[in-house]
Amino acid sequence: MEQKIDRRSVEEGERARLVIDKLQIAQRIKEIAQQISADYSGKCPILIGVLNGSFIFLADLIRELTIDCEVDFIKLSSYKNETVTSGKVTVFKDLNCEIEGRDVLVVEDIVDSGLSIQFIKNYVGKLKPRSLKYAVLLVKEGAEKVNYSVDYCGFKVQYEFLVGYGLDCGQILRNLPQIYALKG
Ligand code: IMP
Ligand code: MG
Repeated sequence: MEQKIDRRSVEEGERARLVIDKLQIAQRIKEIAQQISADYSGKCPILIGVLNGSFIFLADLIRELTIDCEVDFIKLSSYKNETVTSGKVTVFKDLNCEIEGRDVLVVEDIVDSGLSIQFIKNYVGKLKPRSLKYAVLLVKEGAEKVNYSVDYCGFKVQYEFLVGYGLDCGQILRNLPQIYALKG
């Protein structure tokens, strides 16, 4: 019988392959943060982290920013992996801040089908922000089901299931400091 997946089996390479290491992540986040700091110079954007996956990326990103910013979170529930696929996204935990007239930067861990990002674009867009942009650590290539655009992208990755650095598999493995692809 196949062994249950756990942190050890991923880190030791039995169940996964290292895709992006700590240094690469840190370096790329520095670059993105520099770009964001320049683009929002003199402004104080609200960064909205999409829970749960984005919390580590967001935490590292804001510490590299040289501008002021606020932080809030939204949690979505997607039913796209249920047996009855609706492709529907709903809000599980709502925003707590006033969006109208503000510069908003949505921070996501990974874009797969693009449904979440499309949903947030409509949802936050209706709250009348002054500007609305997206920072995404990982974009899966060739996975798009819907049209979307990302303003800041960390890495383009192959279509694989990734874990670590906030990304989970069955709610575990988020605390791995590097990003791995699960072996099929
Ligand atoms: P989308 O709506 O299909 O773009 O899916 C986006 C969300 O699905 C992400 O914010 C993640 O929470 C989750 N997700 C997509 N791909 C992966 C993956 O490879 N590993 C872990 N979570 C993923
Ligand atoms: Mg997510």
